[in-house]
Amino acid sequence: MPPATAPAIPRHIAVIMDGNGRWAERRRRPRIIGHRAGARAVNICIDFCLERGVRALTLFAFSSENWGRPQEEVGALMKLFLNALDREVEELDRRGVRVRFIGERERFSASIRERMHAAEHQTRANTRLDLVVAASYGGRQDIAQAARALATDVAEGRLRAEDIDEAAVAAKMALADLPPPDLFIRTGGDHRISNFLLWQLAYTELWFTELLWPELDAATLQHALDDFAGRERRFGLTSAQVADVAPEKNPA
Ligand code: FPP
Repeated sequence: MPPATAPAIPRHIAVIMDGNGRWAERRRRPRIIGHRAGARAVNICIDFCLERGVRALTLFAFSSENWGRPQEEVGALMKLFLNALDREVEELDRRGVRVRFIGERERFSASIRERMHAAEHQTRANTRLDLVVAASYGGRQDIAQAARALATDVAEGRLRAEDIDEAAVAAKMALADLPPPDLFIRTGGDHRISNFLLWQLAYTELWFTELLWPELDAATLQHALDDFAGRERRFGLTSAQVADVAPEKNPA
């Protein structure tokens, strides 16, 4: 059973970083300038998680649908990802961050795939913060690949169809080894999940802000954490039942 009382600090935060394009357009600059400013906000978010003891951070960097954006923007984003991988990995490693990527990796160029692999390999033993970058990721696609993996197990005799339960599905989803996100943050003013972690967000607290992603600062993240700390997470139980389960009896 999940912990009934929210820990004051979320163990895992999932973020949709929205509003880069609008931030640039408001300044009459090309959209890629907004994405570059967005990359700086990524660093602010990672610093914040390290300082507050958040153990996992999942960032939606590029959705399966984003491939459909104008070619010029997709190309510029790929260059930005490549530069970020070249520039940031040493420092992330030094700070104890374990990096990984989820999504359809095969859609990226060989040079990006190699750097993704190198970043994961270099940081694999770190334990301070799990940084998950969702790239060419889609929640429905994640569920479909889990279904495919289970079907293969059944076809090859490792699993019986009647033994497929929630735990079996969860084990095949991306992030199976991490606690599900406690807190979801979306910037940019829209109140949607947009095909992010559909399975994993089932009981996540949702927090939205009108601020655009490049405007993110530590005060905004603290605001989200304060709000989270004040919420009662019931996981389908009643308030009275939740009050009965003291945190020390039910450690996170
Ligand atoms: C959404 O804003 C943002 C993206 C599609 C790209 C996110 C990329 C970054 C924050 C840059 C670097 C990331 C890493 C992990 C190095 P939008 O373009 O949809 O904004 P809009 O809604 O205002 O158009």
